[in-house]
Amino acid sequence: MSMSDQPEKESGVRKDSNSMWGGRFESAPADLMTEINASIGVDCRLWRQDIAGSKAHCRMLARQKILSAEDGAAILAGLDRVTAEIEAGHFEFRTDLEDIHMNIEGRLKDLIGDVAGKLHTARSRNDQVATDFRLWVREACQTLVTKISACRTVFATCAQAHKDTVMPGYTHLQVAQPVTLAMHLEAYAEMLSRDSSRFEDCTSRHNFSPLGACALSGTGFPTDPEWTARELGFSGAMRNSMDAVSARDFATEFLFACAQCGVHLSRLAEEIVYWSSPHVGFVRLSDSWSTGSSIMPQKKNPDAAELVRAKTGRLNGNLVQLLTVMKALPLAYNKDMQEDKTAVFESFDTLCLCLDAMAGMIESAAFDSVRMYQATADGYATATEIADWLVRELDMPFREAHHVTGRIVRLAEGNAGGEAGGRKCALDALHLAALQEIEPRITDDLYSVLDPKAALRSRGVL
Ligand code: ARG
Repeated sequence: MSMSDQPEKESGVRKDSNSMWGGRFESAPADLMTEINASIGVDCRLWRQDIAGSKAHCRMLARQKILSAEDGAAILAGLDRVTAEIEAGHFEFRTDLEDIHMNIEGRLKDLIGDVAGKLHTARSRNDQVATDFRLWVREACQTLVTKISACRTVFATCAQAHKDTVMPGYTHLQVAQPVTLAMHLEAYAEMLSRDSSRFEDCTSRHNFSPLGACALSGTGFPTDPEWTARELGFSGAMRNSMDAVSARDFATEFLFACAQCGVHLSRLAEEIVYWSSPHVGFVRLSDSWSTGSSIMPQKKNPDAAELVRAKTGRLNGNLVQLLTVMKALPLAYNKDMQEDKTAVFESFDTLCLCLDAMAGMIESAAFDSVRMYQATADGYATATEIADWLVRELDMPFREAHHVTGRIVRLAEGNAGGEAGGRKCALDALHLAALQEIEPRITDDLYSVLDPKAALRSRGVL
């Protein structure tokens, strides 16, 4: 290339080269290099955290006399102007400036001139991005804790309204024993409570500031990382600079907490799909939480529940994605780690949506307590009570009582002919004489335990 072909240089840096790091480069990046390298489309979501981190860093530099008070004030005022531009929607996010950090610094330079370049003293994008991202995840955890709490309140209200609503409890999706709808919903509230504590754990375990680690080995400037840490609401500064810039377990842990919460919601979502099927009919979702079919006019589909069930796939996928990015990465920072944000942002958005949708669905659902009670009676849910009665009243060994009860159930199912005339009937429809043919010591008293409510009362549920 002849000298005349070379683009004009400005302060030693080629004009078309990157203004932040282009000094040692002969040519500008290829278009595809810019495309694969840029993260601004994703990390623009970190803008508030980036400005907060920069302000804390700038104040610390001035306090430590690394920066003059005048320069510090100019940078802080400039950052406020950048904030106002972004808030007003006037900020142009530029792909050629790669990421949110360089976009903000680039704009700061447009606004306040070369003094903007002093902000990056004793800092690297490596500790900068780790700080921004930790701040973002911390806030996301708090948002999710609030949303989970709102969802739990909906479950608790619904459970309170249905504390006497008897329904079949299942194992293997076969009717097992009577439970109440309240018990069922409270089980999910318990899961959500642990999910919430996982987000709280994640916050407290990782609430330490990487700022001050610089590129990886700290800095020769007399910085005060503990001061910036406190300024940003962290519990302290991270102890090891190499760990500070390369740790992403705060993000994988957050992704796990999201995935686990999503898995819990997906289980309830599956139950809603099942309960709302016309064959089961335990619940009718409100029209506002259902969709119709474009061809079958009779259909009312539980799409929101199905989507909560399905979106768990994304949450699980995102966890595996970031674990895979991090696997076998050598210390310290590697550009691979730029791929951490897509997963975290998507999991956060997805889980927020799922929690809100689940709360909305349950809040407006109409449970059919008659259908639920009927299904409990039809499903021989109190068979265990017969076995327990035989043990209690006749001192029969449980194994034998189990066997005797099995024969009674078979009789009721119509498989054994006899009194029920080979037709299926409920346990309490069997005549005493038929029961006594199986076990002569059975008395009338047995019928008292066949009521599902009696079973629940004996367990202290009702
Ligand atoms: N956009 C980058 C990321 O998200 C910021 C850190 C860049 N650091 C570097 N050494 N190139 O990871």
